[in-house]
Amino acid sequence: MLNFLQKLQQWGRRFSPWKTVGLLLLGGMAIGFGLAIALQTAPALAQGVKALDPVPPEFTLRQQVYVERCGSCHVAIPPALLPRERWEELIQRPEQHFGVNLRQSHGDIRALSNIDIRLMWDYIRATSRNAQIRETLPTQVSSSRFFRALHPKVAESCRTLAGINCPDRITVQTCSVCHPQASDYDYRTLAPGWELGL
Ligand code: HEC
Ligand code: HEC
Repeated sequence: MLNFLQKLQQWGRRFSPWKTVGLLLLGGMAIGFGLAIALQTAPALAQGVKALDPVPPEFTLRQQVYVERCGSCHVAIPPALLPRERWEELIQRPEQHFGVNLRQSHGDIRALSNIDIRLMWDYIRATSRNAQIRETLPTQVSSSRFFRALHPKVAESCRTLAGINCPDRITVQTCSVCHPQASDYDYRTLAPGWELGL
């Protein structure tokens, strides 16, 4: 089975892996003193998120903050599924998040702090890709070409393979139909039935 980056590289040869490495390095260098303190005092979250390809060690905690804060109302969406510019819009306007204000607390769900946003953005920036020039940004994950690129089998198999439960609409609520461990940020474990077609 090809790994995550290889799959993306297959369809997007024009993206240089060195750019990714460069971004990761830059991200690493950008850690300020204040952030270092914040990191030390951040709550210890569950270790070993089983998601996609492992992130470099300096991104582990950023990824955990992302999964915890963005996975409390719906499953956390891997940043690779939307262009970086779309994430920027989402992260810059937490007050208007699909009718929810993420700057306010909702029951047990804490309001997003500036530090949370900063840490999440580091992680998102390092694990997403830019849109093309003049590309219309997708508002939904399901309409993103990055989503389609990572789901080559889904379109045709959903209709043709027996034993596969296909949701009518692909939304943050229905990822778990095929990814039963999505709430643990594990998108590699597939629902039974998929092995037949892969
Ligand atoms: C307080 C609840 C809540 C939190 C916390 C939350 N979201 Fe959402 N999010 C929603 C709702 C409501 C929708 C609307 C979609 C739906 O559920 O049908 C949504 C939708 C989305 C979508 C669009 C999915 C699609 O269908 O294409 C993305 C992307 C997204 N959220 C990302 C995030 C990110 C990133 C964070 C962390 C910064 C986050 N969410 C945190 C409530 C939340
Ligand atoms: C109809 C079933 C189905 C639905 C719904 C679905 N996926 Fe997938 N997903 C798959 C399959 C199957 C693969 C393996 C690639 C392929 O063959 O298409 C996959 C692959 C992935 C991968 C790449 C994992 C890797 O190997 O690194 C990610 C990330 C992912 N899905 C995220 C999501 C998210 C987020 C949602 C909801 C917005 C979602 N998927 C909805 C079936 C589905």
